[in-house]
Order: sequence, then structure tokens, then C-alpha cells
Amino acid sequence: MAYKQRILSGMRASNPRLHLGNYEGALRNWVKLQDDFKLYCMVADYHALTTMGDIPDNIGAYSREVAKDYISAGIDPRQSSVFIQSHVPEHAELHLIFSMVTGVGKLERVPTYKEKKEDLAEGRAVSYGLLGYPVLQSADILLYRPHGVPVGKDQAPHLELSREIARSFNSAFDCDVFPEFKDIIDEDDLRSKVPGLDADDNGVLRKMSKSYDNCIYLTDTEDEVARKVKGAFTTPSKIKKSDPGIPEGCAVCQYLKLYSADWKTLWDEDVQGERGCMQNKSVLIDVLNEFLRPFRERRASLDDSTIESMLKQGAEEARQCASETLSLAKKAMRLT
Ligand code: TRP
Repeated sequence: MAYKQRILSGMRASNPRLHLGNYEGALRNWVKLQDDFKLYCMVADYHALTTMGDIPDNIGAYSREVAKDYISAGIDPRQSSVFIQSHVPEHAELHLIFSMVTGVGKLERVPTYKEKKEDLAEGRAVSYGLLGYPVLQSADILLYRPHGVPVGKDQAPHLELSREIARSFNSAFDCDVFPEFKDIIDEDDLRSKVPGLDADDNGVLRKMSKSYDNCIYLTDTEDEVARKVKGAFTTPSKIKKSDPGIPEGCAVCQYLKLYSADWKTLWDEDVQGERGCMQNKSVLIDVLNEFLRPFRERRASLDDSTIESMLKQGAEEARQCASETLSLAKKAMRLT
């Protein structure tokens, strides 16, 4: 097999099901890249435990569901290593090491930390793990000394911090164990922020998110997709077919742009009052179900024992690379 450069990415297992926003924002890119790169595809279970009080009740089961979603979406376990973070203990060990070269002030300024902290109910304690979230993420990444890291736009600050940690380590221990890596980010605005099925109180689309209960999940059945699309937010002032639509503010039109090759014509007719919202919805139900069909087929062929052995193999492959990097780091630190 020809040598391939490595890339690494992952998602938190805080929910058992991935939605279209997760797919468009990151997973789609991983699937595309896996032919050209050796992809390490991680389910971040430790990362799902960083918010005290909001801890999933069965993280092990959640992680396996996320792994199944990766495969359903087209990650090929024969070429990519799919694994669960906690199955590769080197992640925890390098995290500890990195915590020695990372300033607390820097972590307190990370935007995702500030947001999470504000979201917490008043008086609730912030865990040490939440502050260290990006340090663990740096360990996830740098253990594989990757060429690049394909992620959604929102992760850019974490990647920047990972590069800083790599530089701090290299300079503290006068070595070059951790080379620079690249961000691989899809700049498409719609894909990086797929709207949910609803709108906020001002009638403005907001992003797809489990907490808003406005998601289309990769595991939704044909009927669920149909039901959800029928109830989706459209231009409020378009009552009759002849009223002009505003596709930019309509969830159904936004999805048509993602999933229908004819979206331009559909949008045009929507604006001209030549198409009604129900017509758009019925086109969308068809194209979306067509799009999800191979996902459903792949998922139906996955049983628990297949997933288990795939994850075991994935963890073994990941450990080969991770343990090598950890040895290099320890050597540079004069621990050995
Ligand atoms: N923080 C990422 C997210 O919320 C998940 C993640 C954990 C990750 N470790 C990673 C992403 C390493 C890329 C690389 O989506």
C-alpha cells in the first residue's frame, strides 16, 4: 500500500445520534478525504464528560452509535481507523503532559470555554476537565502528528491552540516531536451552519442543534423525514402559492440548495410565486430520502459484533501511531 499522509478528526459522543449539521459540517469532508489520506476517525467519549451535571447516562452505548453513524455516512473501516478515544490510553497520558506546558490564562480565553461557562446554571461549578477540553483535543490531534485536521469552522480556535501547545512543548524540551499541521476547513457557509427545521422568536433560521429539537438525524426513517419536512419553517408571508417566497430565510429552500441539483429553478419559481411551499416540501422529502438511502442501507447491515471488532481493530491501529509519538515525547522530556 502506498504511503499516505495522516489526518485525524473526531466528534464528541454527547448525543447518540448525528444529524445533518454534523454531517455537512465535518463528516462529509472526512469521507471525501479518506481515499487520499490515512484517516484516524475518533469518537471522543472523554470529551463528552467535560460538563458536570450534563453527563450522558450511557456513554459507552452513545459512542457505539456515533461509530455506526460514521460508517453509515461512508467512512470505510478498511481504509480508515475508527476508534473510541478512551480505548487509546495515550490520549489521557499526553493530555497530562500537555497540561504542564499550557497556561491557564490562555485556556480561560478560549471562546467555546467562555460560552459553555455562561451556559451553566448560576452557581454551578466549572469542571477542571472543561477548562482542559482543548488540551485534551490537542493530545488527540498531536498523537498522530498529522498532516492536517478536517473539522467544522467552529473548531478553528481549538486547532490554533493545539499548534501553540505543540510549539510550547517543542521549545520547552528543545525538540521537534510535534510538527505543524494544517486546518482543513470547508468554508461553505451553508454547510458549516446547516439551519434547523424551525426559526427563532424573530422568525430567523437558527442552526440545527439537539438542544433546539430541530434536527434531521442520519438515522431518521423515511416517514420521520417526511413528517419533519412537512412541519418545517417556510417563508411566513407566503400563504398562497402566488405569494413571493424568500428562499434565504426558508428552511426548506435551504435544504433544497444542499440536496437538489435543480435548486436554482426551484428557488426562482418560489420567488416568482410559481411554486407553493407544499410543492417544495414534497420535492425535498424525495431528494432527502434518496440522499439518506445509502446511509440507511449501510446501517442496516451493521450489527453490534461487527462494530465491536471494527472498534477493536481501529484502536489497535491508532495505538501503534499514538504509542510511538508518546515515546518520542517522553524521550524528549528525559523521562526515560
Ligand atoms: N471538539 C470537537 C467538537 O466538538 C471534537 C473533538 C475532540 C475533535 N477531539 C478532536 C475534533 C480532535 C478534531 C480533532 O466537534
